[in-house]
Amino acid sequence: MSNKRVLSGIQPTGNLHLGNYLGAIKNFVAMQNEFQCFYMLADLHALTIKTQPKNLKESILNTAASFLAAGIDSKKNVIFCQSKVSSHAELSWILNCIARIGWLSRMTQFKEKAGSNKEKASVGLYTYPILMSADILIYKATHVPVGDDQKQHLELCRDIATKFNTDYENNYFALPEPIIPKFVARVMSLRDGCKKMSKSDESDLSRINLTDTKDQIVQKIKKAKTDSDPINENIFEKNSKRYEAQNLIKIYSNLKSETLDTVLNNFNGKTFYDFKKELSELLVEKICPISEKIKQYRSDDKELINILKIGSEKANDTAEKTILEIKKIVGLL
Ligand code: ADP
Ligand code: TRP
Repeated sequence: MSNKRVLSGIQPTGNLHLGNYLGAIKNFVAMQNEFQCFYMLADLHALTIKTQPKNLKESILNTAASFLAAGIDSKKNVIFCQSKVSSHAELSWILNCIARIGWLSRMTQFKEKAGSNKEKASVGLYTYPILMSADILIYKATHVPVGDDQKQHLELCRDIATKFNTDYENNYFALPEPIIPKFVARVMSLRDGCKKMSKSDESDLSRINLTDTKDQIVQKIKKAKTDSDPINENIFEKNSKRYEAQNLIKIYSNLKSETLDTVLNNFNGKTFYDFKKELSELLVEKICPISEKIKQYRSDDKELINILKIGSEKANDTAEKTILEIKKIVGLL
């Protein structure tokens, strides 16, 4: 195994969906044979937006079950809850003192999530990318698989690591590389091709959840927004506004492991009515086995909690070493 190290995380704030799967989890699975991987449930991040304690607990277990069901192997990788490794929060404080207010003010995710009334947003939502940087740097991760929307946070993490290296110790932190899927970096809502597919969208019809049944998947694809033109090459032409069409074709191409050109050739001249049937079948084939496995894992919460416990012990071993080094470097006793 190389000395490259992977860390990524997902907030347990609801059911995972196709966007999380294609944007992040598929890469988590792909990287597990090649790298040492830490995959985290970002439960502290989930607190940045008000949640009911009961719902948070359920989401933590659902997300853990989804990781395993999607093929992340708990023996090969470290799967754990962020809140069980206290060095994340400790390093986050130190990095708070390194990051500049101006850097944080540029973060577009904060602007989107805080909405029009920024004064009412939690301070945690604002400093969220600093905790995220601590998550990455505490393991000295070299690679971070994420969807396209997290790219800016990764750039901030690199800025913080660079400033730490300059202020304290040259080359202490390696600068982590984002690993972003090339073709479906951002899966869009099934109802609006200009909006990201998201757990927080009010309409369940906007997303395919990893827990959806066959019937739900078929219904959602049937109702997915498209246009009335047939499938042809102009979908991806420069000034094309066929955003919903682009999204469905990209999803199909990714799940089928075929290039966009091949998909466009195969469906050339056909309508979305025909295409949607094939897309539903493909989604059912890929997603339903995952949703079945999620149910199985959720039928034994004790075992799930035990897997997370073993993971957090391993994560603590690595993270504690780093925080001790960093405390020494910055001059704490
Ligand atoms: P959400 O936005 O649905 O709350 P998260 O912010 O928890 O999802 O995202 C978890 C991971 O999934 C991140 O790596 C993120 O980039 C990726 N991701 C989330 N939504 C999408 C999407 N629509 N397309 C591609 N990747 C996504
Ligand atoms: N911010 C990420 C998201 O919303 C979740 C996350 C938290 C994360 N810490 C991380 C992702 C560290 C990668 C690395 O999806």
